[in-house]
Amino acid sequence: MSSKAIQNSIIADPKLAPEGHLKIDWVEAHMPVLNRVRKQFEAEQPFKGLKVTISLHLEAKTAYLAKVVQAGGAEVTITGSNPLSTQDDVCAALVEDGVTVYAKYNPEPEEYKALLIKALETKPDLIIDDGGDLVTILHSERTDLLENVRGGAEETTTGILRLKAMDKEGQLKFPMVAVNDAYCKYLFDNRYGTGQSVWDGINRTTNLVVAGKTVVVVGYGWCGKGVAMRAKGLGANVVVTEVDAIKAVEAVMDGFQVMPMLEAAKIGDFFITVTGNRDVIRGEHYDVMKDGAILSNAGHFDVEVNKPELAERSVSVRTVRRNIEEYHLKDGRKMYLLAEGRLVNLAAGDGHPAEIMDMTFALQALSLKYVNDRYKEIGKTVVNVPYELDEQVARFKLESLGVSIDALSDEQRAYLDSWQEH
Ligand SMILES: NC(=O)c1ccc[n+]([C@@H]2O[C@H](COP(=O)([O-])OP(=O)(O)OC[C@H]3O[C@@H](n4cnc5c(N)ncnc54)[C@H](O)[C@@H]3O)[C@@H](O)[C@H]2O)c1
Repeated sequence: MSSKAIQNSIIADPKLAPEGHLKIDWVEAHMPVLNRVRKQFEAEQPFKGLKVTISLHLEAKTAYLAKVVQAGGAEVTITGSNPLSTQDDVCAALVEDGVTVYAKYNPEPEEYKALLIKALETKPDLIIDDGGDLVTILHSERTDLLENVRGGAEETTTGILRLKAMDKEGQLKFPMVAVNDAYCKYLFDNRYGTGQSVWDGINRTTNLVVAGKTVVVVGYGWCGKGVAMRAKGLGANVVVTEVDAIKAVEAVMDGFQVMPMLEAAKIGDFFITVTGNRDVIRGEHYDVMKDGAILSNAGHFDVEVNKPELAERSVSVRTVRRNIEEYHLKDGRKMYLLAEGRLVNLAAGDGHPAEIMDMTFALQALSLKYVNDRYKEIGKTVVNVPYELDEQVARFKLESLGVSIDALSDEQRAYLDSWQEH
């Protein structure tokens, strides 16, 4: 037990640690790929003497990633990446394990920001970010904390969009690896992880039937595809809204109805936004929605469902179940917003299954090692996860599943590489 972690950490309640340890043990048993990375790190100590600051949804899988980075020799500090996704028992357990934690469930907005800044005041050598909060602070109000940063890795679509915008303007001060854009991330985490965990969050929160209802999925990217696929499996009539013509054709071919949001708003029972964009459900949509419509978001920030415009139309708001707010509209209709419009799978659930985060977090850990090994040659830009690392994670996953695949023969490889052979 590190006294430094105990002294410095800011958490809700250290006494919750036993429950947190049980949660971390459970995910560890279901993350075989990350376990292999841990063994590799224990032997090689790639982060020996380095400080790593992590901002991720602070639940058990993330805690285990922090322990793996720590096993690689790093002094690890961690904070949340959303006020409602931090689990206090997990924080308490991590502190006992020697990780410095600055995070609490549902802090006030100013305190949430202050905790992120605290986590950076260690002046880290490496960072793991989710949605770009750490990078934004380091490039705006606290550039004084930049000096040691060699580089980092970004977890999600929204964060990568921001990084690419900074990169384009030549503003980025260190290299960042775009973990989200690796095959072993978005194909599984965004699609199957979000697909399953969003429904887990909605079902456990509402305890209502999905079969026979109309589910509107706003955005048919990797997350939207998963959410729509699982809605279909639950027996819903699925409607997709899009702004991208190619994704819209894909949704049609996958068997879903596609229409503008203003039309979908009239018929939906459940709405799930997964666009990474703002105001995709807004005033004009509330005006035509059915009484009892259930609104939720699984995109990174709580800007997809426009809350001020919902509040403007309401005479009162009350909490009717944990994570459900009832907006009583002036015309008598009621609308229900889950988890304050924050990511429903994390704020009202436990996030993605451990077996999915096994691949994502193995990529995170290996990307952090990659950027530490190569930060000088990469330069101050956004880079993809090297294909070899992506493939290594897939191979480890297959091995853990007991699945074998074929290998190309020399003749086949020559055939594929040639333009002359027929
Ligand atoms: N909840 C989670 O656990 C989780 C996991 C991974 C990613 N995310 C977040 O989810 C969001 C989506 O990620 P993704 O990987 O699916 O991104 P993506 O880029 O693959 O898909 C987003 C889709 O939304 C569409 N879109 C944009 N504006 C729209 C609008 N006004 N109406 C309808 N569609 C619109 C885009 O055309 C695109 O097809 C991001 O914010 C990402 O960070 C959340």
